Amino acid sequence: MSRFASLLLLIIYLSYVLAIKTCETFSDYYKIASDKCFDNPDAGAPPLEILRRWGCHAAEYNVTTKDGYQISIIRAWPTHITQPIPIVMGHGIYMNSLGFISMFNKTIAYNLIQEGYDVYLINFRGTLFSTGHTNMTQSDYDYWMYSFHEMGICSTLTALDLVARISGKPKSIYIGYSMGTTAMFVYSTLYPTEASERLAGVIALAPVANVTEIRSIVSYFAPFWRFPIKPIAKLLFNGILLPRNEAINRFCAYGPIPIFLCYASRVLIFGPDFKSLDPLYRPVTNINHPDVIAANVIEHYWQCYKTRRFIQYDHGAEENLIQYGSVIPPDYPIEDIRTPMSFFVADNDWIAEEHNALATYNMIPSQYRCGYIVSSNKEFSHDDVITSRYVFKDLIQGVLAKVQQMKSGLCS
Ligand SMILES: *[C@@H]1O[C@H](CO)[C@@H](O)[C@H](O)[C@H]1NC(C)=O
Ligand SMILES: *[C@@H]1O[C@H](CO)[C@@H](O)[C@H](O)[C@H]1NC(C)=O
Ligand SMILES: *[C@@H]1O[C@H](CO)[C@@H](O)[C@H](O)[C@H]1NC(C)=O
Ligand SMILES: *[C@@H]1O[C@H](CO)[C@@H](O)[C@H](O)[C@H]1NC(C)=O
Repeated sequence: MSRFASLLLLIIYLSYVLAIKTCETFSDYYKIASDKCFDNPDAGAPPLEILRRWGCHAAEYNVTTKDGYQISIIRAWPTHITQPIPIVMGHGIYMNSLGFISMFNKTIAYNLIQEGYDVYLINFRGTLFSTGHTNMTQSDYDYWMYSFHEMGICSTLTALDLVARISGKPKSIYIGYSMGTTAMFVYSTLYPTEASERLAGVIALAPVANVTEIRSIVSYFAPFWRFPIKPIAKLLFNGILLPRNEAINRFCAYGPIPIFLCYASRVLIFGPDFKSLDPLYRPVTNINHPDVIAANVIEHYWQCYKTRRFIQYDHGAEENLIQYGSVIPPDYPIEDIRTPMSFFVADNDWIAEEHNALATYNMIPSQYRCGYIVSSNKEFSHDDVITSRYVFKDLIQGVLAKVQQMKSGLCS
């Protein structure tokens, strides 16, 4: 045991002093000299640097939401934009915009740019590139008191406004993943007309709205959320549930053993698919992706889980009466959606469970249902949307076809 601990310490030390190596197969990592290994410069690199290596144009815009958060939007575009409609992408929880670009050509963003699209990546509030606020800093407890509700009604709106201004096109297609879909459900249910004027369509990857029955181990932690998990998070990290931790991120990038251990710690949350681990990109995604989780975002998901409804934030009876005119918060009205939506789901997704997604999809008015696609890979998990080595075949091809269809207005 102590030998194992020493080995881990050694790896942690090495992960700090040596460059992150990536190899084409896991066994190459153990060869002293292999021409299938190289230092991947994308590990730990900021978005603009990665995007410029793709040979496309890239720019960053810092914009301020109506509730005062300064967020970064990354734009990536080819020399000749040949497509009539821009794409906006909203990332999931526990990551930032790097989640959409750390796997080079195994990303939706890369393939869209190749096809001539103008692509915009949101960095939601609190994450590495979106840390500012007009009158608060990240050390203020109040800074972290947002949920996906505010991302929905403020951040997606700010992003869509920026995209319309920069591109000169009134409508975009939104591609969201996980929490990025929740934020879009918030916006498109509370502002259905506005959303339909700004969006030609929404592609929801691993959509999260109905969280009634989930296999994820987080459901076993739910009874302990209000006590003691949330108070501990409040006490320890000032409103943050999980801070971004560079040391852990680097450790998880350092060769097959850490990669395996770190993945094993996630599978009971997101669904297991060990075969999907990508030897070449896993070190990069492990360093780049994991980002902060605000406790209040989990609080809101927990309220949805507890009430078995996709419910607006519960501020307590008194405040609810003022805000909503009722003691119990209202649901987000999925039936009010007026924007074409397409869902991509998978059987082995333990968070965005297929049966829950289907219930949500069927509440969308039928003329706005634009396709419900279940992955043909039965082992495809929540993580796989972003990191599977087979993601091109299992997901990206389908998404590209769906974008094509939405762009041409063929969705109804
Ligand atoms: C946006 O803000 C970040 C810091 O919050 C800064 O590093 C970056 O240079 C800014 N980008 C632009 C284009 O102003
Ligand atoms: C910051 O501004 C928001 C409105 O943008 C306000 O609700 C909040 O109370 C302010 N916070 C501080 C610490 O002044
Ligand atoms: C990605 O690029 C590599 C070479 O750089 C190539 O071998 C591979 O086929 C490409 N994959 C896709 C999905 O385009
Ligand atoms: C959530 O999904 C389940 C199926 O998993 C369904 O029985 C339930 O009615 C749905 N709830 C809501 C509020 O849509």
